[in-house]
Order: sequence, then structure tokens, then C-alpha cells
Amino acid sequence: MKYNELKIGDLVAKIPLVQGGMGVGISLGGLAGAVAKAGGIGLISSAQIGFREADFDTDTKAANIRAIGKELAKARSIAAAGIIGFNIMVALKYYEDYVRAAVDAGADVIVSGSGLPVDLPAYTKDSRTYIAPIVSTERSASTILKYWDRKYQRTADFIVIEGPLAGGHLGFTNEQLDLYDKTTYALEISKIIQLVGRYEKQFDCRIPVILAGGINSREQVQEAFALGASGVQIGTAFIATAECDADPAYKQALIQAKASDIAIVKSPVGMPGRAIVNSFMERVRDGQTFPPGRCRQCLKNCQPAAIPYCITERLIAAANGDVTEALLFCGAYAYKSDRITTVDAVIDELFGKIS
Ligand SMILES: Cc1cc2nc3c(=O)[nH]c(=O)nc-3n(C[C@H](O)[C@H](O)[C@H](O)COP(=O)(O)O)c2cc1C
Repeated sequence: MKYNELKIGDLVAKIPLVQGGMGVGISLGGLAGAVAKAGGIGLISSAQIGFREADFDTDTKAANIRAIGKELAKARSIAAAGIIGFNIMVALKYYEDYVRAAVDAGADVIVSGSGLPVDLPAYTKDSRTYIAPIVSTERSASTILKYWDRKYQRTADFIVIEGPLAGGHLGFTNEQLDLYDKTTYALEISKIIQLVGRYEKQFDCRIPVILAGGINSREQVQEAFALGASGVQIGTAFIATAECDADPAYKQALIQAKASDIAIVKSPVGMPGRAIVNSFMERVRDGQTFPPGRCRQCLKNCQPAAIPYCITERLIAAANGDVTEALLFCGAYAYKSDRITTVDAVIDELFGKIS
């Protein structure tokens, strides 16, 4: 199948691919740079990005802001002419500071989910950084596009629709997750695309729609384009690559995982998430709680005394390869990864030979 290039403003990605931001420490400059070099859009996850900085425990915000600059520079050293940006979660406590740091560092794009990025346009104003919200339902798409229209007289530069099969936090309630199957979610996607079409007319512009969540084969890529997407966002399929920034033990955990090991789990963020059920998650499911050691003020709305475990602590455990004690986020088709591969091989497998 022949795919069109993905155009976002004056940016042109040869491959209509956005590599999904994956925190903590899964998509840093290494993976984002490799995807950008291959012709897609590479996203660095800003979530606790400074976890390897010496002052991370004492001045987490400063460490994260410094690491935003370092990881972008690393990605640019891999792909000088590539398109590289950040995924920055709205749920983060210093969201605005991280967005401004990414803009200052020279991010090409910022993609924001885990909440609606209502004031993202204010934080990127007068910059050359293109912005996209991540939405999961027509309702959330309508809310954010209406808000940006009324408050900022602008619309999204592109939009990411993240479906129920994605990895990490999901923008659905457990009840919605039970409700959606392939057919009903395709209907939701088509409603969002129609809505986006109305904003394209109003603003006389193109708003590329990127589909995400459980896209892990050539057929699934083709299905996404058949539904009307201009691109796909893919996360999990890139984890078991040599270029991915994840610890080797994380990659191996994914390679070892069977379909039955992957489940919807509870996260302190208050949204369901998808992860590998390891011994830590079994204990969480049995009702054990794990009081946080040290609060790094990661989330806006977290009450450390009321949560089953600290998300930062458990995602950093994953980033450090302590896989039995970690929260191992992954998409629904993570079990398809069966060996360490490369970014180019994944892209060839999903899109066919492009070059
Ligand atoms: C390990 C992991 C970490 C993730 N971290 C984030 C994140 O920090 N912010 C975010 O918006 N999405 C995050 N996601 C979601 C991805 O960006 C992407 O949209 C999703 O994984 C797409 O589904 P797929 O993994 O099935 O391809 C994460 C996903 C995974 C698997």
C-alpha cells in the first residue's frame, strides 16, 4: 500500500508515523531520534524525564527541565533534519513549565493527553511548535476543540485519537472499556473525524488525524488509514528495539509476555492503564498497598496517603530494569514482540518498504 506523507503545517514526515511518547524513560532521545531519522515523528516522553539527573530527588522540576533539553539535543544529534517533539501529560504538576521548557528547547511538536490540554495554546503562543491533544471520545474531542476555538480562536495542528487497546493510561472509564469493541470504536473514530472536518472548514486548514492504540501489524496500519486517518501513532511495537531507551530487562519482559499476562490495571492517576501483570501487580490486585518512599510531586491531583502505590516510584523501577517491582505499561498486542529488533525493521514490517 502507498501512503501519503504526513504534513503538519510546514513539517513533512515521509512516513505517516508518530512514535508514541512513553514514560518513564522508555522513549527518550534515543528512540525518538531513531524514528525521526527513519522518516517518522519521534516523541520524547517528558514524564519524570530527569530521573537519572543527580538532583532528581532534591529538585525534581529542575532535573526534569534540564533533561528535556538534553534528550532533545540527543535526538537531534541522531536525526538533525528529523521531526522531534515531546509528549507531555496534562496530569503532571508542573505541566506548564515542562511545555515551556520543550518549546524553549526547540520542540517541533507537543502532544498532550492524560487530561485535556485546555491551555496548551497559551504556553506555546508565538513559537514554531505545533500542538496536538490526545482524545479518546467524540466528547473529549468536542470539548477541547470548542475550548481552543472560543478561548484562543485557533484549532489543533493535528489530533491523536487513542483507542482502548493502547498502552499506558487510557482515556476511558472501566465501563467504557467494557462497551467498546472494534466496531463500536470505529464508529466513535468516524464521529471524531467528522467533527474535525467541521473545524477544518471553519479554520480553512488541514487537521491531520492520527490513530493510536494496539496498532501492531501491517493490516492494522491499513485499517487505520481505511478509517480516514492521516497517520498512526505507535508505541509498544517500538519497545523491543535496539534503539529504544528502555532497560534491556523491560524489553525482555515484553518479549516473554503472553497475551494472558496483559491486563487493565489500576493506576494512582485515577485512570485505568494497561500493563503486564507481574508479581508487583499481582500484589496490588490482592489489595496490598505500597506507601510511597519519597514524594516527587509528580501529579497535580495525587494524595500520597490514599494511593495504592506511587506511580513515579514504580515507573522508575521499570526504567531501571527492576521488572518484578515495576509498573510495566504496554499495549494490548505487546505479546507479539518476540525478539529484539530495530526501528527500521518495525517500520518496514508495519508500512512495507517505504524507501
Ligand atoms: C510503556 C508505555 C508508556 C507510555 N507513556 C505515555 C506517556 O508518558 N504519555 C502518554 O500520553 N502516553 C503514554 N503511552 C501511550 C503511548 O504514547 C501510545 O499512544 C500508545 O502506547 C499507543 O498504543 P500502542 O502502544 O498499542 O502502540 C505509553 C505507552 C506505553 C506502552
